[in-house]
Amino acid sequence: MSDYEHINVWTEGKVGVIQLNRPESLNALNRKMIEEIVTQLEEFESKSDIRVSVIRGNEKTFAAGADIDEMLGESPLSFELANPFAVWDRLMAIQKPVLASVTGYALGGGFELALHCDVIIAAEDAKFGFPEVNLGVMPGAGGTQFLTRIIGKRKALEWIWFGDHKSAVEAEQLGIVNRTVAPEIIFEETMRFAAKLAEQPPISLRLIKEAVNKAEDVPLREGLTLERKNFYLAFDSKDQKEGMRAFVEKRRPSFKGE
Ligand code: CAA
Repeated sequence: MSDYEHINVWTEGKVGVIQLNRPESLNALNRKMIEEIVTQLEEFESKSDIRVSVIRGNEKTFAAGADIDEMLGESPLSFELANPFAVWDRLMAIQKPVLASVTGYALGGGFELALHCDVIIAAEDAKFGFPEVNLGVMPGAGGTQFLTRIIGKRKALEWIWFGDHKSAVEAEQLGIVNRTVAPEIIFEETMRFAAKLAEQPPISLRLIKEAVNKAEDVPLREGLTLERKNFYLAFDSKDQKEGMRAFVEKRRPSFKGE
């Protein structure tokens, strides 16, 4: 694995794991760290034996936001020249499933990182929120857009205006979190979920992710057209032959991602 400063990386079977590792600042995301995360996701994306990625923190926290120390001296021009959000566009281009395993704080940019993932599994003691308003700013890595699409305008405005923390249970009720589990088993549960997903046909997963993401983005007619195109494409895969043949032969399919 590459030599990273702020993340640990390993694989377990067909699952690639990225652990955020700046515990001294509650995994605050500085520019180098988010660059490392996305570079490693792209690395997993390029490996045919890795089918699912997991982003996790440590037992105590996921990520308490963008690094405030790093942002202190920024100006509109310095942002414009550095274009620090370009890396988030690369994150959105990841086609394989990405799971967030959230312990402790997922705040600001940390919450946005989780929202960029396809599935969020949270520990019961996890806390979600956008405290940027208390710093005199606002979310900048997609928070207002992602949250509003999930929970609607009024709830999103109230939450982001006050900058409160919400519990994992509240986040699950709002449709943000897929499932909430006891802190002692969060990583085990996440890996179980990831390993199960990694057995699903990879080409189907990718085509489904593209179509579902489109549903939030485009008019219904355009989304239906893309869905139909992806449905046709799936029939060009060996996995389609294998999946349907296995059904007819009454056996479990074995998907190769071809
Ligand atoms: N940036 C930099 N350092 C941070 C940080 C952050 N976002 N969050 C925590 N830290 C640091 C603290 O400064 C502290 O460092 P020192 O030990 O050197 O003092 C260390 O992490 C531990 O933090 P606390 O002592 O504050 O821990 P706590 O348990 O008392 O409180 C907390 C935890 C409520 C999460 C609190 O740390 C906090 O409010 N952090 C800031 C959260 C925040 O505002 N996030 C949004 C950032 S802006 C953003 O994300 C913009 C965007 O959309 C892209």
